[in-house]
Amino acid sequence: MAHADIGLIGLGTMGGMLALNIADHGFTVAAVDASEGAADRLKASAGSLASSIRACASLADLVQSLTAPRSVLLLVPAGQAVDDLIGELIPLLDSGDTIIDAGNSNFRDTQRRCAAMRSDGVRFLGVGISGGAEGARFGPAMMAGGEADSWGRVAPIMTAISATYEGETCAAWLGPDGAGHFVKSVHNGIEYADMQMIAEVHAIMHDGLRIPRTQVSEIFHEWNQGPLASYLIEITAKISSTMDPETDRPILDVILDKAGQKGTGRWTLIEAQHLGANVSVIEAAVAARNMSAALPQRIRGAELFAGASGNWPEADLTSNDLEHALIAGKIICYAQGFDMLMKASEEFKWKLPLPGIAKLWRNGCIIRSGMLNDMANALESADQNNLCFAPSFANVLINSAPKLRQTVMAALQNGTPVPALSAALCYFDTLRSARTSANMIQAQRDFFGAHGFERTDRHGTFHGPWIPDDKAE
Ligand code: 3PG
Repeated sequence: MAHADIGLIGLGTMGGMLALNIADHGFTVAAVDASEGAADRLKASAGSLASSIRACASLADLVQSLTAPRSVLLLVPAGQAVDDLIGELIPLLDSGDTIIDAGNSNFRDTQRRCAAMRSDGVRFLGVGISGGAEGARFGPAMMAGGEADSWGRVAPIMTAISATYEGETCAAWLGPDGAGHFVKSVHNGIEYADMQMIAEVHAIMHDGLRIPRTQVSEIFHEWNQGPLASYLIEITAKISSTMDPETDRPILDVILDKAGQKGTGRWTLIEAQHLGANVSVIEAAVAARNMSAALPQRIRGAELFAGASGNWPEADLTSNDLEHALIAGKIICYAQGFDMLMKASEEFKWKLPLPGIAKLWRNGCIIRSGMLNDMANALESADQNNLCFAPSFANVLINSAPKLRQTVMAALQNGTPVPALSAALCYFDTLRSARTSANMIQAQRDFFGAHGFERTDRHGTFHGPWIPDDKAE
């Protein structure tokens, strides 16, 4: 084989699938993995694509196999493994070659690596990839950060293998240094929130309203034909009717309710706090995963406090109410996510293209949905700074928020936890409060710390006529 178009290091599920995807699009790929024989196994399993894959025995072999200037894609676990690999690659590469970290790296690591690499002359891109194994094989969404011209060099391959939406690619350069990985992290935070709200509505339907699983599946399937049409609703419909072959029971009955997480949702939250962004729905979703993992504590609580009834068939909620509750929750959660992206864009001077981000999430990634196309259109309008205020979404919220309220109230009344849906409702109520409870906070701050407050009737900073404790009668 002549020199390969791109190198790929890390042949786990995502890496292996991506190598096949690259080969499938007429490019040649040199592949290597730390585990011996993995590249040969990939080539052996690649069938007609095998001639486009060069199985390399070492990093040096891989680098020598590439057309200059070289592009090397890393698909290894985030963290130290990426630094170690970069350390090994740098002496083998030349100035002008590009390393592309396509793992789930923390954007702060990506910023650091971009800065360090500048002095070596090697270029660095941080590219967030979403779509799971199937996406990696047949078209993921890609969120790139780094130098625009470095992306320009690899873009022909990356856009060719990415998903498309009505002919438009779902891969794009979003900004300098860590911008791509930052956007991927917010994508994952939204993913956590979307999943949590769906799980809460599922629990209301099945555990609360006692709707049989096959019917629950049909309802999700129906929703997937309407405004909620999305990959996550589609798989929820399928999951709801899947049986466990071992026990012949519904698979959901045998899956332990302990949610895992690799950390990206948590990173989103941490960064939201740095930015002063309210992502309360994502926060609720991360907290719910944390608490789901505290199983012994929950078992103790259920014994001590006689768990919630979990059975409320008499509640007056229709599937249409629940659909609208999810629609409202989803709009609010995405409004928070895009608001956070806007704040980050200002903070890091990235000029993130918000409509472009909504567009590239329309297909290929885990949160892909029809609604993202409407969001992209709404975000194009420069005169609104919150997705909830965009006329098309404001109108939907006016209709759907009362159903969200009805759903949350029924759940709370029956002791069923709906943290993400409740957080969405509280955000909405705060967003439409011209006056909140923060006057009391300001008074308390001034009382104990003389921090001062503004007044409603004139400009300036003022203090209250507080009576110190030692003077009070
Ligand atoms: C991923 O990026 O791998 C997933 O979309 C999110 O992973 P998690 O649920 O394990 O954090």
